[in-house]
Amino acid sequence: MAKFETVEVQTDVLILGGGMAACGAAVEAAYWAKKNGLKVTLVDKACMERSGAVAMGLSAINQYVGVKDGQNTVKDYVEYVRNDLMGITREDLVANIARHVDSTVHLFEKWGLPIWTDEKGAYVHEGRWQLMINGESYKIVVAEAAKNALGAENVYERVFITEPIVENGRCVGAVGFSTREEKFYVFKAKAVLAAMGGAVHVFKPRSGGEGLGRSWYPPFNSGASAYFTIKAGAEMTCQEVRFIPVRFKDAYGPVGAWFLLFKSRATNGLGEDYMQTNKTELEKWKPYGAVKPVPANLRNWLMMLDVMAGKGPIFMRTEEAIEKLSAAVSDPKERKKKLKDLESEAWEDFLDMTISQAILWAATDTMPEERPSEIAACEPYFIGSHSGASGAWVSGPEDIAPKQYCWGPANMTTVKGLFAAGDASGASSHKFSSGSHTEGRIAAKSAVRFAVENPSMPAIDNAKIEKLRERILRPMELFETHKGATTDPDVNPNYIRPKQYLFRLQKLMDEYAGGVSTNFTTSEKLLNKGLELLKALKEDSEKLAAETLHELMRVWENIHRTWQAESHMRTILFRDETRWPGYYFRSDRPQMKEDWKVFANCTYNPEKNEWEMKKREILSIY
Ligand code: FAD
Ligand code: ADX
Repeated sequence: MAKFETVEVQTDVLILGGGMAACGAAVEAAYWAKKNGLKVTLVDKACMERSGAVAMGLSAINQYVGVKDGQNTVKDYVEYVRNDLMGITREDLVANIARHVDSTVHLFEKWGLPIWTDEKGAYVHEGRWQLMINGESYKIVVAEAAKNALGAENVYERVFITEPIVENGRCVGAVGFSTREEKFYVFKAKAVLAAMGGAVHVFKPRSGGEGLGRSWYPPFNSGASAYFTIKAGAEMTCQEVRFIPVRFKDAYGPVGAWFLLFKSRATNGLGEDYMQTNKTELEKWKPYGAVKPVPANLRNWLMMLDVMAGKGPIFMRTEEAIEKLSAAVSDPKERKKKLKDLESEAWEDFLDMTISQAILWAATDTMPEERPSEIAACEPYFIGSHSGASGAWVSGPEDIAPKQYCWGPANMTTVKGLFAAGDASGASSHKFSSGSHTEGRIAAKSAVRFAVENPSMPAIDNAKIEKLRERILRPMELFETHKGATTDPDVNPNYIRPKQYLFRLQKLMDEYAGGVSTNFTTSEKLLNKGLELLKALKEDSEKLAAETLHELMRVWENIHRTWQAESHMRTILFRDETRWPGYYFRSDRPQMKEDWKVFANCTYNPEKNEWEMKKREILSIY
């Protein structure tokens, strides 16, 4: 692959990703860098205006604490997150985000994001923490502010980050390739911030050939954050805590507005409300079974019990909710108007962030005011910023974190010079879009501080970079060399194409690690078999081939996913209990255990090619 040009970029602070956390990081880093005469560079695999989970837009800002308005306290938010995660959370990290998130939301508004207000000018809440927005252009608004802060010359788009550069235990950059031009990139930096989102398509999606690849989580995020931090040698946390959202079936439309804003119920095929009929099950999961709101995984679980008992399909009772809300208006003319408003809000909720759900409603002649729509549990995703918790184990804020959680500037991983935010940092769930942006700001400020305090960099070994270049581009070489061996380029004894590899990974995870087809259930025996098969798959990853630059990206997305998969299986195996029924169930360890109220962490040792698993204590700050 000699024709690939090597482009070297020297910078001070390197932001990897262009999503919510990275955009927050860009704004904050630019501010502090200017004061210190530093350079900040951002790299996104896609185009920032429409990249990451917010690409299509959103219909709500899910984290707003309202501290100044006296609505809630930071402690309230920490308690909410702790309960929702069945006791497993880094309270210091959650509190740090919660105390700053409102200012981020105010910035969004200043930059032009329309947040719904009532007649008195107060924000319209979807639920206690959620604000309604007209969010079709949410990502454009946020990306514009980030780009303006950095300057176009410091933003690299359509460059896929592949590997970290680590020297003497310090992260000093990253390598990647352009998905449009034959260019291999080497970014050298004093501080690196990983914010490349979570992972999807590690598990087989519900969608088969009819809508192949359709999922709730955006297909663009493929485990780059987890891979990058794991390969750099960072300790990871909560790799077992996947997220399984319940969504409108087949097009994955959001449910939050229905449950919270429209106060809708969901019922089984017999018309029973599973949250009521299966209530006694919550006893088994106390104390978290007794909290309000019922934790997301337990809400899922009560629904799944009915599905497993053959009581499906499950319906969101849209017709009932709309009827109830409009019936509350006594004047007939006003009631008619209310009905119309509710209908348009229902459609807008989907049009703002999951357009395909509106298309599905239209295609199936569904009038939400007339008949209910099916909902179902999605396949598992890795999204530590939502109701999952996977990500890197990061240092806490010095003023509030217990000292055991502090080893460097806030949000630095256990690798010197490597920071993480958003989906990339673990054990601090429920950040969502606004909290991820906030955490990006926090991490970026720390990264600038680190770059100022550590100006001299270890020398980067060129031979190592050459080796990385050879390995990263090898799939194209492999294809070129062997493509003539068969008439069908998909079937070749010398290589495997990324799509075939992806199907194998997904089947393996689905069947052995608790995917949709096993009702999210697994066991020690299944996991051990799964890990054995994954080992063989990893060996075959050396034979992945790529015909084009786009396919080269597919190759590396799959390799990234594979490491996310391995850390997930290893951690489910390590955690000797079931703690999050509704996310996954260990059939051989069907209960929650008091001595497992700990973090389950893992670290990969590249020299020994070994994983180390360890428990970490949960330290409360309140
Ligand atoms: P993202 O915003 O996803 O950004 C990841 C970035 O990394 C992208 O720019 C991507 O292109 C880039 N990237 C990935 N791989 C690479 C690579 N190899 N090299 C370079 N760049 C890479 N939150 C709310 O507040 N309200 C909502 O209504 C809401 N709805 C949601 C609906 C859906 C369907 C989803 C998936 C999430 C929703 N969220 C919502 C949550 C919110 O979107 C996330 O919490 C937030 O986007 C996480 O920010 P992030 O920066 O970690 O990841
Ligand atoms: S979104 O990410 O696609 O917007 P979703 O629509 O499910 O997620 O939920 C939005 C917000 O509402 C999240 O904060 C979620 O935790 C919360 N939520 C959704 N359903 C419920 C429910 N039944 N009870 C309490 N909170 C809920």
